[in-house]
Amino acid sequence: MHGGRIYEYAEQSGRSLTELLDFSANINPLGPPSSVMSAIQDALKEIRHYPDARQSRVIETIRSKYGLSEDYGVFCGNGASEILDLTIRSLSPKRVWILEPAFSEYRQAAYRAGAKVMEKTIGNTSLQNTLLEIADTSMKGDLLIINNPHNPTGYCWRQEEFSASLPMLCRKEVTVLLDESFMDFRLDEENRTLMRQVIHLPNLVVVRSATKMYAIPGLRFGYGIAHRELSNRIEHNRDRWSVNHLAQAAATAAYQDRAFSEATWNWLSHEQQYILATWGSSNAGHLFMPSVNYFLFRFHENIPVHKILKRLEAEGIFVRRCHDFATLSERDIRVAIQTHSANESLWNALNQALQAF
Ligand SMILES: Cc1ncc(COP(=O)(O)O)c(C=O)c1O
Repeated sequence: MHGGRIYEYAEQSGRSLTELLDFSANINPLGPPSSVMSAIQDALKEIRHYPDARQSRVIETIRSKYGLSEDYGVFCGNGASEILDLTIRSLSPKRVWILEPAFSEYRQAAYRAGAKVMEKTIGNTSLQNTLLEIADTSMKGDLLIINNPHNPTGYCWRQEEFSASLPMLCRKEVTVLLDESFMDFRLDEENRTLMRQVIHLPNLVVVRSATKMYAIPGLRFGYGIAHRELSNRIEHNRDRWSVNHLAQAAATAAYQDRAFSEATWNWLSHEQQYILATWGSSNAGHLFMPSVNYFLFRFHENIPVHKILKRLEAEGIFVRRCHDFATLSERDIRVAIQTHSANESLWNALNQALQAF
């Protein structure tokens, strides 16, 4: 089960898409940026041609944004989901390690590739120790998926927390797929991303997404960064035209739009403060500190969570119920941070519901 099933929510609540408040998908409410919309408009007249199968313009833009030389392999996909799926399918590992709770697509992609899923829980010990334990028991050819910033807890690990384990995993020939789909939301992304490590760690693949930051999940664009050899091997299995012309044009404009990133960081830091002042002081449950554009909230045991969420849904307000994440339960919800007025509406509706029951 995913968040962001807005067409289903509309049917279920008898409302139009514009009448819904969807907090279940973590999409930047400031987007899509106007630069992206006009790039799409301009590109529309070219859709009678096949898209550029090399994605040259957008790859060049990504290289220049992050200062990545030709030693880095950059490859594009129809969303980060395609990069994840393609990487696992291309390497066909016998075993895929997943750190639970985790985005459900990891498991689905592993099963589709015929791999056995090995679960490890995060939270009992430091990430460093968990990764070292995996490095100890993993076998050559295994694949490990790590997600940072982490969905659904919203936690962001520091680069140092990977520094002992990643080289060890690499030496054991374990591929590490590091999903940084939400990294663009961090002002300090340059100090958090591990994309530059792929040169030293030839088994590391870093995955990024444009769909959340630039609010184009319906158009779709993601990319992977890996050592050139590994990147070529993965890319080889991709459908040449999986990244359509409009998505390439949109992503090219998006990755050049520094002003949009700055506006996003600014909005987010204000709204994170608001979330802290409201949800953070609630006596209905515990707020997991947001490091990006969503947060996890755990209701106390005495709260009738199901009734409350039903009431919100009847009002057209949807959050992500987390009962289907391993290690989480009906008491956990994940909430996207939206515009200030939407955040206020949710907070007020929640409090009315809490008072009603
Ligand atoms: C952690 C994580 N990675 C990847 C994705 C997929 O992103 P995309 O829309 O770029 O395929 C999601 C979507 O929700 C996600 O939560």
